[in-house]
Amino acid sequence: MTISHYPGPVLGIETSCDETSAALVESGRVLSNIVSSQTDLHAQWGGVVPEAAARAHVEAILPVLVSALAAAGVAKEDVRAVAATNRPGLVGALSVGLTAAKTFAHVRGLPFVAVHHLEGHLLSVLADHPDAPFPHVALVVSGGHTELVEVVAPGAYRLLGQTLDDAAGEAFDKSARLLGLGYPGGRAIQEAARAGDPGRYPLPRGLSGDTLDFSFSGLKTAVLRLVEREGEALRTADAAASIQEAIVGVLADRAARAAERFEATCLTLVGGVAANEALRERLKGRCERLGLRFLTPSFDLCTDNAAMIALAGSIRLARGERTSLDVDVFSNAPLPDSDG
Ligand code: KG4
Ligand code: ZN
Repeated sequence: MTISHYPGPVLGIETSCDETSAALVESGRVLSNIVSSQTDLHAQWGGVVPEAAARAHVEAILPVLVSALAAAGVAKEDVRAVAATNRPGLVGALSVGLTAAKTFAHVRGLPFVAVHHLEGHLLSVLADHPDAPFPHVALVVSGGHTELVEVVAPGAYRLLGQTLDDAAGEAFDKSARLLGLGYPGGRAIQEAARAGDPGRYPLPRGLSGDTLDFSFSGLKTAVLRLVEREGEALRTADAAASIQEAIVGVLADRAARAAERFEATCLTLVGGVAANEALRERLKGRCERLGLRFLTPSFDLCTDNAAMIALAGSIRLARGERTSLDVDVFSNAPLPDSDG
């Protein structure tokens, strides 16, 4: 499938959670992708505080936008269209980026399109792999989402399975907090797990049976019990490796099951947790054995970023889609299931 992109530089803006990001893409190529993370701010509370996130976006948005233009070598007069995340996410945080994007589009008289955050993650593979085949099966794993999706074509998605409680990233973050490894937890668990034995502490894998759904709440409870039971004797590296194994194992099994069930020829791994090296390696191996193509974005494009929003927006704009400037933000929203 040849994918059409909007001609000329497209500005993307993403502020759905705790990353303020602006990016320029042109013809599917990423010219710049500036991300200002609020991780240090939220670390003191051990998680994202929505009001603090919105205020930090207000401070960061203009410098980030200016940096993205400068890094791309694109003058503001040369931007041809604007895309921004308007759903799902923290409403205060989303409003900052959406308002900046609308203002830019209005002042410069440019076409504008609002993008679903998960569509950004799903299409992020196109930055490094513009020849990604459609349809394919995608595993979207982030701090807020754990979903298996059939990506029929850009703009057309079918939900195959999802978490019934915590997201995979949340399972990493909550477990890391229980182990005293700090926030955000995914990377901290990955680092601690390097020296650990993944077989030392057997942990639950959630739902059994032939399902494509996930459940991570039992893991969280089991980690709490493990920490209480072992006390000082707890081997942190072994616990981290065991937790990572429990999460990676179940994600890889379900993704392989979905790919087989839907006779996919390609599996993609996207979202913040796709930065996990053990998960990338495991899925790569599974796909090799199943004869599937395995695609995952470079690390910068796994965690939240505006390049993926600009890419998704560029594809929608090229089809003639426009969003009215009175569009709102939404904390929850289903994935677009057709070209809508
Ligand atoms: O996509 P993302 O940046 O934000 C959301 O849309 O939620 O994902 C953030 C999540 C966090 O839960 C973080 O702990 C996790 O991605 N994460 C990782 C790694 N890097 C980030 N999880 C496991 N291993 C990593 N290396
Ligand atoms: Zn995300």
